[in-house]
Amino acid sequence: MLDSDSLKKTFIAEINATASLAELQQLRVKYLGKKGLLTSQLKSLPTLPAEERRLFGKAVNELKEFIEAEIASRESVLIEEDRRKRLAAEAIDVTLPGKYTLFGREHPINKVLREIIDVFVTMGFGVEEGPEVELDYYNFEALNMPKDHPARDMQDTFYITEDVMLRTHTSPVQIRVMEKKKPPLRFIAPGKVYRCDADISHTPMFHQVEGLMVDTDVSFSDLKGVLETFIHRIFSPETPVRFRPSFFPFTEPSAEVDIGCIFCKGRGCQICKTSGWLEILGAGMVNPHVFEMVGYDPEVYTGFAFGMGVERITMLKYSIDDIRLFYENDLRFLRQF
Ligand code: PHE
Repeated sequence: MLDSDSLKKTFIAEINATASLAELQQLRVKYLGKKGLLTSQLKSLPTLPAEERRLFGKAVNELKEFIEAEIASRESVLIEEDRRKRLAAEAIDVTLPGKYTLFGREHPINKVLREIIDVFVTMGFGVEEGPEVELDYYNFEALNMPKDHPARDMQDTFYITEDVMLRTHTSPVQIRVMEKKKPPLRFIAPGKVYRCDADISHTPMFHQVEGLMVDTDVSFSDLKGVLETFIHRIFSPETPVRFRPSFFPFTEPSAEVDIGCIFCKGRGCQICKTSGWLEILGAGMVNPHVFEMVGYDPEVYTGFAFGMGVERITMLKYSIDDIRLFYENDLRFLRQF
């Protein structure tokens, strides 16, 4: 005989204990499945006396309906609970401040270096590089500065051994490229150089851009044309340019190139030491002796070379009066570019 009441009680206890949809599904199978408790009850129906069958069947069916309804309502409770848990886990606090990306920017020296390179590249110059740790031969000897040459004193050299040093200028790249390539040559060589010097206009490391052009008929007027074009593009097309005789062991004749003082417009101020001019680079026609050192015939080839300090040009371009600002990493300074 069906004990409908106790089955119902057990079921109610069990369904209230279900904590997940999976558990509920197990309960459904346990009561309503093919081999479930109710199904097996119905199987005993034919064995009952006829007068009991109707009541028994009715009781089983009522219990079945009750169980189905309970499972359905428990199911919607569990689904809702599930949804709430998931929402809580995935919650996004839209009131939190956003994560913002800090944008870096180009260092002023790199910015001007890139501008300088651009100007020469548009004039057909290639770009070459050389080592910062250099041999005496390339830094001095092959540039017509033999041992004990007084011009070596001008460049306070960081020696590593007697023969190895940090390059004091980018001119050794001239020699390295000429040793490897035959004329015609037209390139610049940007890079770091080192001198044992530190004050408001000198840092032990700074940047230079070297230039070299060699062919069968390169003249001083080519040098003037290239450098004037360069200066007019880096500063302004109205900037006055002046070539002043000078001396470098690796160029002959040599010149220092000045631009009209951009602070006083040539009238004379403290920065240009009242001369109205600012020196920005050294240049000259390649000394025939340098050509001989690299095996070029000085009767066949002529060339010009120049070298400039990137820090100095940047300082003039942006009216910066202390070179050390470039290397102090003060964001208030760096963010201005
Ligand atoms: N190397 C020279 C310096 O550092 C600059 C220079 C380069 C001058 C090429 C003439 C020709 O002072």
